[in-house]
Amino acid sequence: MGCRRSAALALAAALLGCCCLRPAPGRLVVLRRPDPAAAGGNVTFALEPAPAAFRLCTWYRGAEPDPQREIFTYFAGDPAQTDGAAFTGRESSGPDCSMHLRALRTADSGAYTVHLRLPDLVTAGANLTVYAPLPRPRVTPAAVTAPENDTFALACDRPAGAETLLWLRDGAALAAGGRLTLAGDNRTLTVTAASRTDAGAYACEVGNPVSRNRSEPANVTVLYGPAAAAVSPPSPVRAPLGSRVELACAAAAVPPPRYRWDFGNATVGHQSRLAFVFEEASQAGEYRCVATNPALGRAAAATVLLQLPAGGLPSADGSPGTLEARTPGPLGPAAAPEEEEEIKYSTLAFRAPGAAARSPPRDGGTVYSEVKRR
Ligand SMILES: *[C@@H]1O[C@H](CO)[C@@H](O)[C@H](O)[C@H]1NC(C)=O
Ligand SMILES: *[C@@H]1O[C@H](CO)[C@@H](O)[C@H](O)[C@H]1NC(C)=O
Ligand SMILES: *[C@@H]1O[C@H](CO)[C@@H](O)[C@H](O)[C@H]1NC(C)=O
Ligand SMILES: *[C@@H]1O[C@H](CO)[C@@H](O)[C@H](O)[C@H]1NC(C)=O
Ligand SMILES: *[C@@H]1O[C@H](CO)[C@@H](O)[C@H](O)[C@H]1NC(C)=O
Ligand SMILES: *[C@@H]1O[C@H](CO)[C@@H](O)[C@H](O)[C@H]1NC(C)=O
Ligand SMILES: *[C@@H]1O[C@H](CO)[C@@H](O)[C@H](O)[C@H]1NC(C)=O
Repeated sequence: MGCRRSAALALAAALLGCCCLRPAPGRLVVLRRPDPAAAGGNVTFALEPAPAAFRLCTWYRGAEPDPQREIFTYFAGDPAQTDGAAFTGRESSGPDCSMHLRALRTADSGAYTVHLRLPDLVTAGANLTVYAPLPRPRVTPAAVTAPENDTFALACDRPAGAETLLWLRDGAALAAGGRLTLAGDNRTLTVTAASRTDAGAYACEVGNPVSRNRSEPANVTVLYGPAAAAVSPPSPVRAPLGSRVELACAAAAVPPPRYRWDFGNATVGHQSRLAFVFEEASQAGEYRCVATNPALGRAAAATVLLQLPAGGLPSADGSPGTLEARTPGPLGPAAAPEEEEEIKYSTLAFRAPGAAARSPPRDGGTVYSEVKRR
């Protein structure tokens, strides 16, 4: 082969200390195909450039030509393979001094050396890594409940053979930074000062060049709120007697808050929605919704004023009213009898907004009842 000259070639030649790009003896390169190699698959070690003429070549396990670890010797001209001490039955030679290894095991990983007589003795080597399919990693704990502003941590067991370990939240990759730290080659994930945006399904994904596997997600719940409660429709609510009134209370919290409606000193509802028929003017007044986070004990309240339309008040005579409890009360879902306690109000002074006082309800009319959960 003649010498082709170009600036790049001249530089390469200068670095190699020879005039041509043809590798000098001893600069034989071993190529692995395929690369990467997977357990259960095959790999071929081929020499580059392919040796044109050689008398024999010997393959060894290890970085040195050690006769105790000879795999085989291949004789050119008289094609024959003589197996050595390190032959496992899975290695075969090619006419170009290549070696084909099949049914790869991870234990085949390591150094390999080939020795050629060209007739000059030439040695070349290669390192092989056989990658195994990765088992599913596991995140512990399987679920986390952390109050807002607290720290939580997750761990991923990294299977042997995993080269990368990544974390995902709701399928999106997470990077370390800010309140999120990764440690131990990403094995542990720690989030400080947890915020509600940190909630989600966390998974870890392990990978190597031939395989990836992802854990089952671990749910992270961040407890917060309520910071405020809101009532709709907005206060004041004006409704005529006989109409149906519906009040809704909403508060953002995790876990979902428990709701309680109070009217005066009595609790009149245990759901976010309070609905009733505005039968008596005594039902006018301030309704208060209290939303409580059962896990944090934190509560927020909002009030709404229920009023009769202007001029819609009945005439007042200033006498106190009489009240009987109606059972079961019009108060949310019916509870088991032994779990509730009925409170009867025998007398009550009515006072509607804008009126001094008003007459009691007609005989048998019911304006009020209360059920207390034990
Ligand atoms: C591995 O090589 C053997 C022959 O040595 C062949 O039969 C088999 O199909 C090859 N397997 C793969 C995965 O290439
Ligand atoms: C094989 O790996 C060893 C150790 O990592 C290294 O010193 C050597 O140069 C490698 N051999 C080849 C041919 O890459
Ligand atoms: C993940 O590993 C499990 C066994 O631990 C295996 O059944 C599954 O096929 C693997 N998934 C992938 C994508 O390799
Ligand atoms: C977390 O801290 C913020 C800011 O100090 C505060 O508003 C919030 O109420 C805290 N949350 C909890 C659950 O203590
Ligand atoms: C650790 O995770 C980061 C992403 O946050 C990733 O860039 C890096 O390669 C990972 N390191 C390992 C060893 O998997
Ligand atoms: C995580 O949350 C999802 C949806 O919220 C649920 O389907 C799943 O069962 C939860 N997993 C665990 C381990 O709690
Ligand atoms: C509410 O309770 C307080 C204290 O228990 C009492 O002083 C007040 O009279 C009560 N109000 C009504 C309307 O029952």
